[in-house]
Amino acid sequence: MAGSCTILIIFSFLFSTVTTATTVNTITPGQSIRDGESTVVSRGQAFELGFFTPGKSRNRYVGIWYKKLSGKVSDRTVIWVANRDTPLSDSSGVLTITQKGFLVLLNSTNGTVWSSTVSKIANNPVAELLESGNLVVKVAKKDDNADNFLWQSFDYPGDNLLPGMKLGVNLVTGLNRYMSSWRGTDDPAHGDFKYMIDPHGVPQLVLTKGNTIQFRAGSWNGLRWTGVPQLRENPVYRFEFVLNQNEVFYRFNVTNSSVPSRMVLSPSGVTGRLTWIDRSQSWQPFSRFSGLTLDQCDNYALCGAYASCNINMNTPSCECLEGFKPKFPDEWSNLDWSNGCVRRTELDCKNGDGFLKHKGAKLPDTRSSRINKNISLLECEKLCSKDCSCTAYANSDIRGSGCLLWFDELVDIRALTENQQDLYVRMAASELASIERRRQSRKKKLVIIIVTSILLAMAMGVLILGWILYLRKKKLKNQGKGNEEMDLPIFDWATIANATCNFSNNNKLGEGGFGPVYKVTLLICK
Ligand SMILES: *[C@@H]1O[C@H](CO)[C@@H](O)[C@H](O)[C@H]1NC(C)=O
Ligand SMILES: *[C@@H]1O[C@H](CO)[C@@H](O)[C@H](O)[C@H]1NC(C)=O
Ligand SMILES: *[C@@H]1O[C@H](CO)[C@@H](O)[C@H](O)[C@H]1NC(C)=O
Ligand SMILES: *[C@@H]1O[C@H](CO)[C@@H](O)[C@H](O)[C@H]1NC(C)=O
Ligand SMILES: *[C@@H]1O[C@H](CO)[C@@H](O)[C@H](O)[C@H]1NC(C)=O
Repeated sequence: MAGSCTILIIFSFLFSTVTTATTVNTITPGQSIRDGESTVVSRGQAFELGFFTPGKSRNRYVGIWYKKLSGKVSDRTVIWVANRDTPLSDSSGVLTITQKGFLVLLNSTNGTVWSSTVSKIANNPVAELLESGNLVVKVAKKDDNADNFLWQSFDYPGDNLLPGMKLGVNLVTGLNRYMSSWRGTDDPAHGDFKYMIDPHGVPQLVLTKGNTIQFRAGSWNGLRWTGVPQLRENPVYRFEFVLNQNEVFYRFNVTNSSVPSRMVLSPSGVTGRLTWIDRSQSWQPFSRFSGLTLDQCDNYALCGAYASCNINMNTPSCECLEGFKPKFPDEWSNLDWSNGCVRRTELDCKNGDGFLKHKGAKLPDTRSSRINKNISLLECEKLCSKDCSCTAYANSDIRGSGCLLWFDELVDIRALTENQQDLYVRMAASELASIERRRQSRKKKLVIIIVTSILLAMAMGVLILGWILYLRKKKLKNQGKGNEEMDLPIFDWATIANATCNFSNNNKLGEGGFGPVYKVTLLICK
């Protein structure tokens, strides 16, 4: 009885949603989503897919937005767009799926405006919008194993990275999933900026504009990106970084699924994290953990090779690493640092080079680096030492393991005291010796300066003390003389009685606050 009742309720629920709201969970061949007529909604109602117009634009696009968060169409947060570069100019668009499993967007003359790709041809495909916001094409309705998806929108991110989405590269197929900015707030076409994992050498997260790197978050140090010390454990989301033979990616998920959080890349190239705040019904920046606060030292390679960027009072300044000098001193002194620094002493690999340790650094660009997660720092040094083209090494994991090797000029280093990571830079043995000598003599000088200062201070102290004592003595002497001349004279009672004619009324001058005042008669009392 109870069973049939439940079935009845489910049936009537399905019926009512389909007829009144014209929303569906899936699209199957023969079925289509028409602009203005129907939308696809995920099972838990978190996301909705349909046709929309961004801001003041006149074009129509197919996109996915948060369904629950905002009732008003103008407040929609669109997190993915299908036909970014091929907008429809009218509302005659139709989204459907072919027998072979291609999602296709057709215009009024049945021309294909946009289409998904297919990795393998399948029978009876179905497109479904998952509760995660992922639009997937799969074969069996129930199969939610991501490995079996024929296609998924999570493989083609736009300007938003959602929980569960991978930012990174499938090293087997070459598929690179990166964030790409909109051209403008009303134009979802591919803009200038990409936030992506560059798999060359040792993978790094970079922000690019066109073909040039703007900002390098850098390689993963076991806990976070080497250039983003702000990325830390926090109450809102967890993150992971995976690097193996098959893939490299960064991914996060939210600790409480009813507190949505996403990463965005703005049309002007600003990256950040936004978290939905129910109380204010709005997205708020979560900048404390986002790495949003870039400064001038975050400009890629501002200081050129073999130099370190320091930020002082919001102005950057570059310093050659110890043992290096500006390549072009005139440029350097005019604050044009881009050509960087060169060695004071050339390397001499055959006769043995050594390494100089630099503390607390954002590790240099690893596009021509190699990693070996399995060896110690000592073995790492040996490995680098043996190879004359190796310029530096470091632990690949900040907690003290693994080996990262550099085989090129070291660029984009900055001083980061929050990073307890040391970089060992290859140096000519003679340079190391002279650095050591300089350090020793600096130490000696420092000791001399300190001792001299102490001695001087002591001497000054003695002098000052002597001077004070002398002054004190002089003053005491002066005070002694003053007693005779200036202090109030003291008379005994008899003298006063005599002088005032025994406090005679004739001698009384008046009364003050402290008693009667008498005039002194020196000769005869009346
Ligand atoms: C577009 O395709 C549909 C379905 O195949 C068909 O009914 C319709 O006539 C076509 N329209 C045009 C303009 O070709
Ligand atoms: C429909 O799309 C096709 C292919 O992109 C294009 O050639 C055609 O001009 C479009 N029709 C309209 C009415 O925009
Ligand atoms: C979030 O991700 C972490 C690590 O990636 C995983 O251990 C955890 O189970 C995930 N939590 C949820 C709620 O998905
Ligand atoms: C998740 O967030 C919601 C809304 O802020 C809150 O009501 C709920 O208690 C949270 N759940 C947990 C397990 O923290
Ligand atoms: C890493 O080291 C461990 C223990 O020393 C060893 O068992 C493992 O096979 C090594 N892995 C690789 C990839 O060399």
